[in-house]
Amino acid sequence: MTDNFIVPQRLRAWTALASHAQRLIGRPLPTLFADDPGRAKRLSLSLGSPVEPDRAAIVADFSKHLLDDAVLAELIQLAREAHLDEGIHCLFTGEQVNFTEGRAAAHMAMRGSCPPPPGNSTGVSSLAMRAFAFALRDGNLIGSTGKPLRHLVNIGIGGSDLGPRLVSEALTDLYANESSPRVDFVANIDPRDIAAVLERSDATDTLFLVSSKSFGTAETLANAEAARQWLRASLGSDADIGAHFAAVSNAEKTAAAFGIQPDRIFPLPEWVGGRYSVWSAIGLPVLAAIGGAFDEFLSGGWAMDEHFRTTPFERNIPVWLGLIGLWNTDYLAIETLAALPYAHGLRSFPAWLQQLEMESNGKHTLRDGSESLLHTAPIVWGGAGTTGQHAFYQLLYQGTRKVALDFIVPVGEDEPRQRALVENALAQAAALMAGRDFNASRAALARRGLPAAEIERLAPHLTCTGNQPSTTLLLPKLDAFHLGALLALYEHKVFVQSWIWGINPFDQYGVELGKEMARALALGHAGAQDASTARLAAVAESFRQQL
Ligand code: F6P
Repeated sequence: MTDNFIVPQRLRAWTALASHAQRLIGRPLPTLFADDPGRAKRLSLSLGSPVEPDRAAIVADFSKHLLDDAVLAELIQLAREAHLDEGIHCLFTGEQVNFTEGRAAAHMAMRGSCPPPPGNSTGVSSLAMRAFAFALRDGNLIGSTGKPLRHLVNIGIGGSDLGPRLVSEALTDLYANESSPRVDFVANIDPRDIAAVLERSDATDTLFLVSSKSFGTAETLANAEAARQWLRASLGSDADIGAHFAAVSNAEKTAAAFGIQPDRIFPLPEWVGGRYSVWSAIGLPVLAAIGGAFDEFLSGGWAMDEHFRTTPFERNIPVWLGLIGLWNTDYLAIETLAALPYAHGLRSFPAWLQQLEMESNGKHTLRDGSESLLHTAPIVWGGAGTTGQHAFYQLLYQGTRKVALDFIVPVGEDEPRQRALVENALAQAAALMAGRDFNASRAALARRGLPAAEIERLAPHLTCTGNQPSTTLLLPKLDAFHLGALLALYEHKVFVQSWIWGINPFDQYGVELGKEMARALALGHAGAQDASTARLAAVAESFRQQL
């Protein structure tokens, strides 16, 4: 990878964008529409349907952001000056874009969008993992008592949980059939997490899949051990416990030492990072749940890869999503991004996106080792609509902060509640942009027939600031293809931003510090910590003794 990196603030476009921000800050979003009737159409992009080229598979509306054509042109110029084209080329040709760990990040190879990095292949592990998943679906995996295994429990955390959990939740309704095993997920080291699953399980037909790229993650190992003990207690100490385990891991020796049969350990390539791994053997629970539709999921990812790789920046959805996110973060000082999926199946999307954005771009050290003077990843949070409307939207309407919003809206069938779901999404985006000023608040109170003094007293409490900027992503429906495209879209968004900020989105050294501290506490080295932590550890110990 040639090092063309220049800190963003030294790029000419950076300074130009700062003047545009000064020009636009304070401008009410609705006035941008009033002054420009073509705005909504011009500031929308679409990914075409691979089956019916005239129809859109995803429509991305960016018109509710505080920007105009001049800003967009300058953002695209920023991407050019930052040599984003070279970054995309490096990503897709297997260069070591993960420059701190000396690795490629070629998860797109799992969806057929690029060759695996030189000297590698994706084939063997994928094929074996597929054969195993289909054997489970066909009832050909037999437990220690001779019963077919019909219940898969995925034990994993972070990328070894969030991706397969999200995709299974999103797609099981549509694709599950009589071949599909029941699929559960266990992640937390809190004993109640696995206990809640085991309470509803029958050991004779349960298969535990230990998903851990490293096979060294404390939570996963503790839960795998709990599963082993439960199997022994349920099936007897002589039972062939190995029949109830499989693993997805690169640490094949460690997994085998745990007792997993070598032909049931499915590796994933080193160049597939945890949070980018649902496309690989980590997707085994999804494959088991939805069977052949997994290939449609990969096709959706492939379609977005092709769009990202080949579409000029002027019409490129991940490039716009990344650039506009950067504009919000660094020029408009908007610190958080709320992910608002309007689909029950996407309820885990905010958690998945949190890891993707915050573990990838939540970093301060740049490619040249210097410190970033800019904010990098936004704080990502959110929740599914419409339930979130009755919980945290109040702050979006009347709180004191600007929040960037991503509405993700699969349109779905013509059914009254499904229509209401979509109408709610569009209405919230509109209302959060329009707000309600003092006069409109007074008028609303007057319509209720309140006395004049009461109207004056209450009107300030009804005002909503509006001007919350949002992106709306409309999908025809929540199926495997569109979900694949959606997840790949955000993966590429994160890459675009990382390239311009100049950080490595593919390592995660930060999380190691907390793990080291937890190990020190477990070893009773609390005294080595600060006085507060040492005291809290002592109090926790005294609580334990009292129970
Ligand atoms: O601690 C962070 C992390 O390494 C994530 O990046 C990863 O997705 C998760 O832990 C799980 O890692 P593993 O698959 O190795 O258990």
